[in-house]
Amino acid sequence: MSYEFTLIAGDGIGPEVTNATIRVLEATGVEIKWIPVATGAAAVAEFGTPLPDETLRTIEKTRVALKGPITTPVGHGFTSVNVAIRQALDLYVSLRPVRSIPGIKTRHEDVDLVVFRENTEGLYSGREHSPVPGVVETLRVISERACSRICKWANDFVRNEGRSKLTLVHKASIMKLSDGLFLDAFTALSDDYPFVEHEARLVDDVVRELVIDPSQFDCMVMENLYGDVLSDLCAGLVGGLGVVPGANIGDRFAVFEAVHGSAPDIAGRGIANPTALIQSSVLLLRHIGERKAADSVEQALFSVLSEGKIRTGDLGGSADTRVFTDAVIEQINRIR
Ligand code: NAI
Repeated sequence: MSYEFTLIAGDGIGPEVTNATIRVLEATGVEIKWIPVATGAAAVAEFGTPLPDETLRTIEKTRVALKGPITTPVGHGFTSVNVAIRQALDLYVSLRPVRSIPGIKTRHEDVDLVVFRENTEGLYSGREHSPVPGVVETLRVISERACSRICKWANDFVRNEGRSKLTLVHKASIMKLSDGLFLDAFTALSDDYPFVEHEARLVDDVVRELVIDPSQFDCMVMENLYGDVLSDLCAGLVGGLGVVPGANIGDRFAVFEAVHGSAPDIAGRGIANPTALIQSSVLLLRHIGERKAADSVEQALFSVLSEGKIRTGDLGGSADTRVFTDAVIEQINRIR
């Protein structure tokens, strides 16, 4: 079977890590025709907008996209293209599995967590205005529908993947209405999943305890902003942003991208770690049912990383993106 998917190379290190990931996917033998679409800085230069309609229409057509990170200017400038894509395509689940990688030494061993971040609402609704000079209001939108569907998706994942526990991360003690609604939706579904252990914990409690002992947690579901912050914290538990994958999933479309951003500090130098996006491509392969290829990429990646001879700078090595990617491809060829 051959596939046709959308490719967003992205900004900064985006083209470097997407190129590496495509080479790895090619090595699996899964036939994918990529349709590249200009998005982000490249699209501003060409079309005068960072998110041309063409990008969304192409993802709608192919249903699946691989995406590099896109820079969002701080302060005035265009609003986040990443948030806009998730909202426009209703990609309401941000799935971020966070696992220790064999051979990469961190403070905690055997970290194995999954973060489900609600992707379409919260403070990222993008509704901000200035009622009077010197004052700005940002609307934190939380709807029952959005809370229920992400909680259901998370519960289904826990059950289907044979995991055990789901924690709702909230601050309903202060935000009684908005986080209260999320808590109610979470509680209402709990009876439908009798074999999943449910707990609800305050976000400040969770971040502290994650740093002290992440083994208390298994899967965690939360609103947008908490999910953004918590997934970076979790990345720090397993070796940093260079290694943690992600997927934005809705009922009809899915966009696979790493948790990290465009890393302007190292962009263009060919030294970025492609592991996070390669791991996102493992999620992509599983999403389309190519399990054997997914396993071979994961096995090859872990084998190179655990051997420890070839690693990128962020993991203490000296390999550049190409050398590291070549090593992963060599392993895939050995496994196949
Ligand atoms: P960042 O994730 O780009 O970088 C943070 C630090 O991690 C930097 O020191 C960077 O060099 C390092 N890093 C990140 N990815 C790496 C990799 N693959 N290999 C080696 N080192 C890596 O976060 P930052 O600096 O806050 O954001 C930069 C830009 O990216 C901003 O404009 C932000 O809005 C955007 N961004 C985009 C995302 C997306 O497209 N989904 C997600 C997060 C941020």
